[in-house]
Amino acid sequence: MKWRVLVLVLAAAALRLGFSAGVRDQSLREAAQSSGVLIGTAVRPAQLSEAAYASTLAREFNMLEPEDVLKWEEVHPEPQSFDFSHADQIVDFAIRHGMKVRGHTLVWHHQNPQWLTEGKYTPGELAQILEKHIKTVVGHYRGKIFAWDVVNEAFDELHVGELRSTIWLNQPGIGLAGNGSSYIERCFRWAHEADPQALLFYNEAGAEVVNPKSDAIYAMVRDFRQRGVPIDGVGFQMHLEKLRADVASISANIKRFTALGVEVHITEMDVALPVDPNGYPRFEDLQLQADIYREVSTACLFHPGCTAIQTWGFTDKYSRIGSHSKHAQGGALPFDRNYGTKPAYEALREALAAGRRSSMIVRC
Ligand code: XIL
Repeated sequence: MKWRVLVLVLAAAALRLGFSAGVRDQSLREAAQSSGVLIGTAVRPAQLSEAAYASTLAREFNMLEPEDVLKWEEVHPEPQSFDFSHADQIVDFAIRHGMKVRGHTLVWHHQNPQWLTEGKYTPGELAQILEKHIKTVVGHYRGKIFAWDVVNEAFDELHVGELRSTIWLNQPGIGLAGNGSSYIERCFRWAHEADPQALLFYNEAGAEVVNPKSDAIYAMVRDFRQRGVPIDGVGFQMHLEKLRADVASISANIKRFTALGVEVHITEMDVALPVDPNGYPRFEDLQLQADIYREVSTACLFHPGCTAIQTWGFTDKYSRIGSHSKHAQGGALPFDRNYGTKPAYEALREALAAGRRSSMIVRC
């Protein structure tokens, strides 16, 4: 019966209209609500006093992560003193606005204070210093920070699949050099002692797809899970620079990690665009960028164990990409410099609103 088909088509159109009108009114955090995925962003405390920054943050996100102020040089500026004042501002903001907080990061080879890197400590002394650092910082935020990047970027860029030579592994290391990932294991155990409830993550760059680096991380995580080392998740940073993402491989990677019983968080997403001397990207690139935001978030939503999507900042006004690329790239985030929404924002919101079930019909 023809009229029946017509009614069905009209109903579907009305539903779709209603759906998109509804989505248009929603913030990211509202759109994410029914999906069970957290939507987060990295935060700089100096900007919290800027009204547009603070209101956008509170409206759009339900998870925050200090971009820099929990790193060693900020939080542990002198051997005997810790400075939690800046990170506390972010945590307080999050609590006031009903947001979760990720902690970043306890063990890294960058942004360490000079007293540490030039202190000529023995491995035994370094082990004590690191244990105290991890237990003091995690302990300070016990019950407030729900997930920690315990170790960041421990695998090498050049010797792919091998651990990076760092102060913590072998320069001079904490006494476990030559024992593979045992120094990482030790860090996870210390963090777990300081807050048994916190979810503990290993976070990495350039391991989003199936490649030799993610293979090596996979082997480590599988080993940790088999031996009961307290690891709960893996963070894929997702700093993307090309206008094409291998989403099939990202999806396959998320699948194999979550099959180990760990959660996956997308922790630092941005999609850098080439920009003109005034810092503006090409109009047509904004749409390609939106497609990448959509596809990556849809891939995350497709896997129940992928539980958070986080961007590395949210406004192009404050993004690491400019200085990082000597201003050849920019425009990497979902909001422009005036807090206006970009196509990337719409794409992210639509993917979140479609939720986990709708993502099933998209081929990942
Ligand atoms: C970056 C911050 O965004 C910058 O403000 C800082 O100057 C350098 O570090 N991978 C990480 C993040 O894990 O901590 C880095 O953050 C970006 C790359």
